[in-house]
Amino acid sequence: MLILGLETSCDETAAAVVADGRRILSNVVATQFELHAQYGGVVPEIAARRHLENILPVTQAALDQAGITLADLDGLAVTQGPGLIGALVIGMAVGKALAYTLKKPLAGVHHLQAHIAAIFLTDSPPAFPFVGLVVSGGHTNLYHVKSFQDMELMSRTRDDAAGEAFDKVAKVMGLGYPGGVVIEALATQGRPEAYPLPRPRIPEEPLTFSFSGLKTAVAYLVKRHPEILAEPHSRADLAASFQEAVVECLVSRAWLALEATGSTRLLVAGGVAANGRLRQALKEQAQATGMELFLPPLHLCTDNAAMVAALGYQLLKQGERLPLSADVFSRG
Ligand code: KG4
Ligand code: ZN
Repeated sequence: MLILGLETSCDETAAAVVADGRRILSNVVATQFELHAQYGGVVPEIAARRHLENILPVTQAALDQAGITLADLDGLAVTQGPGLIGALVIGMAVGKALAYTLKKPLAGVHHLQAHIAAIFLTDSPPAFPFVGLVVSGGHTNLYHVKSFQDMELMSRTRDDAAGEAFDKVAKVMGLGYPGGVVIEALATQGRPEAYPLPRPRIPEEPLTFSFSGLKTAVAYLVKRHPEILAEPHSRADLAASFQEAVVECLVSRAWLALEATGSTRLLVAGGVAANGRLRQALKEQAQATGMELFLPPLHLCTDNAAMVAALGYQLLKQGERLPLSADVFSRG
């Protein structure tokens, strides 16, 4: 079964062809980050316009690289949400138009659940059930994943997402966009224990994430001590200290979720899962506690359409069909 996946929820226009939900035949990602870098974040209207320019060439490139034509497809999968509405409708319109004209089934895919499904594109995916932590620019969600169709949301962030905190702190520190990559690079030269930053937690909701207090703590610190940013060593120390605080918050909640579910398998996915320090801390904790850890390779952590095709295949196989009247959604 050949599935074409389309992804336009944020600032990446992506198309991919995946065979049987497992084998990637092509995975094309046109990133817009240079376009948005000058504004220090994604500008929704600009993202939507660029998706419109990119979507057909990117789709054609995915077909070409897979060595197939539209007629060879068995089905389509498109990100339905959550994401930027103006951006989502571009992929959705193309997905519906292709499904209608080709008379092929269409699946509507939840973007965060697609991040989880990315692990099924690797050689050794986890058995169900497992705990899935999705850490992206817009979301920090913990799921109890029982099947492709049953992913129970255990907790989320009550304010900023982890990736958003990276992006905002990078902006406060004058480091540019996207924040995660620049902070990680700078942090390699810094000491994570240099600045004592808060690890926000909500006592009555131990699984819930919160990152805005951490972001504010960094903002106050650099406002009171602008010299931190002027000196390369202290700047790197601050980046490392901030990164460490985020990593600790993520690792501690993930292990609480493992305890709560009795699961011994943890998957971490989404853009922030590309962070080297987070991956290292997760591996250490997994080794110390005897848990099985699953991390997609870096190019399957950040936004892509192969993960959309992977989940779409599973949903289509279960008989799910997205009606042509279905709409996109922004929150979920
Ligand atoms: O999943 P993703 O590609 O897009 C969304 O669905 O949001 O995640 C993007 C987020 C951004 O906030 C970016 O700063 C963060 O992932 N990110 C990282 C790294 N690479 C990307 N955060 C920390 N370390 C990284 N290496
Ligand atoms: Zn994403």
